[in-house]
Amino acid sequence: MHYFEYQRGELYCEEVPLDQIAADVGTPVYIYSEKTLQRHVRVFDEAFAGVPHLICYAVKANSNVNLLRRFEEWGTGFDIVSGGELFRVLKAGGSPDKVIFAGVGKTPEEIRYALDSGILFFNVESSAELELIHNIARDAGMRARISIRANPDVDPRTHPYISTGMQKHKFGVSLPEARELYRSTQKLSNIDVVGVQCHLGSQITEMGPFEEALVSLRQFILELKSDGVALKYLDFGGGLGISYNTEEPPSPAVYGRAVADATKDLGLTIVLEPGRVIVGNAGILLTRVLLKKNQGTKKFLVVDAGMNDLIRPALYGSHHQLWPIRQRADKEIVDVVGPVCESADFLAKDREIALLEPGELLAVMSAGAYAFSLSSNYNSRPRAAEVLVTGETYRVIRRRESFEDLVRNEIETTSC
Ligand code: LLP
Repeated sequence: MHYFEYQRGELYCEEVPLDQIAADVGTPVYIYSEKTLQRHVRVFDEAFAGVPHLICYAVKANSNVNLLRRFEEWGTGFDIVSGGELFRVLKAGGSPDKVIFAGVGKTPEEIRYALDSGILFFNVESSAELELIHNIARDAGMRARISIRANPDVDPRTHPYISTGMQKHKFGVSLPEARELYRSTQKLSNIDVVGVQCHLGSQITEMGPFEEALVSLRQFILELKSDGVALKYLDFGGGLGISYNTEEPPSPAVYGRAVADATKDLGLTIVLEPGRVIVGNAGILLTRVLLKKNQGTKKFLVVDAGMNDLIRPALYGSHHQLWPIRQRADKEIVDVVGPVCESADFLAKDREIALLEPGELLAVMSAGAYAFSLSSNYNSRPRAAEVLVTGETYRVIRRRESFEDLVRNEIETTSC
């Protein structure tokens, strides 16, 4: 559900026509709908209304501080994976006591920064990391709250690059090893065990994997209880998928009910780490057609957004719907490609879309998550602007980069 809709044949974001934003800000430009974001946070929150819970938005999905500030206002906490993300959350006014920190390779500096900031807990991904966190906390005369990331060996049935909850993945620790780790924490004077965490993967579109993991986790938590390990939090990660094209993922309500039913007698606060389901369909990438080109029987539509702006089609073979800014009946089958010097630089292949001419605008849908946050300066292309629409108004929330920005951190040296 989102607020990008046609009004009298023209595509709008809420009450703002998209061609107005393109005229004022230029293209390519990311455009987010505040009303959609707020609705997604509310719907997700309501899905867990029956159980004590904390929603920690996964910052990596879209980390613009303006979005983070709104999430904070709407009551969410934050799931971070780096010192940089912690910095962004604090800059946005996020409460550190609602921040959780995951990742297989946290540096000593990042651990100390998070301890000093007073985050809620670390999600520990190995015995080596547990020891590191303990030593840093001890040397600083502090206590570190931790959960252990349990890897339940469940296939999330999603793209292999975004699957994380199987034995072959680098994430978390197997359930038997996790049980040992919990036992070992009793000897660690500066560690407070508060929870268990599990994240299966991303863009999961069926309940099966979640249900399978909930059965294992439930059993695991009962075993820990019998070992004398009392937990406060069950962090069930993120991963709920969205509809990019024809997928029909479970609704937040169905997902929330399954989690609540499996856990409500355990007396735990449920932590969730949703990213994509909050921001994915709340954003688009607006691009302009540069030219058309035929190569034999192949037709190319060359647009001004490239794989440096949106790498998802190249990296995951992902499908993003392409909507013309003006509705039209005529269609053609094209490859939509960017200007970057790689054959992987495409937004769509052999796709039937509206017949467009050079200069016309095209909306790449479902580009709110893992889109700008994965963008780069490849081919020395300045990164696109970001715009937030609220009702009839809009604001630029990240200025388009300039050529000067490209070389800002480069240090010119003379030959010696
Ligand atoms: N928690 C942890 C520990 C994660 O690793 C992730 C995502 C999330 C939460 C949020 O998952 P979500 O609710 O957004 O599915 N770049 C890829 C997605 C990478 C996901 C990484 N981890 C893409 O564009 O599809």
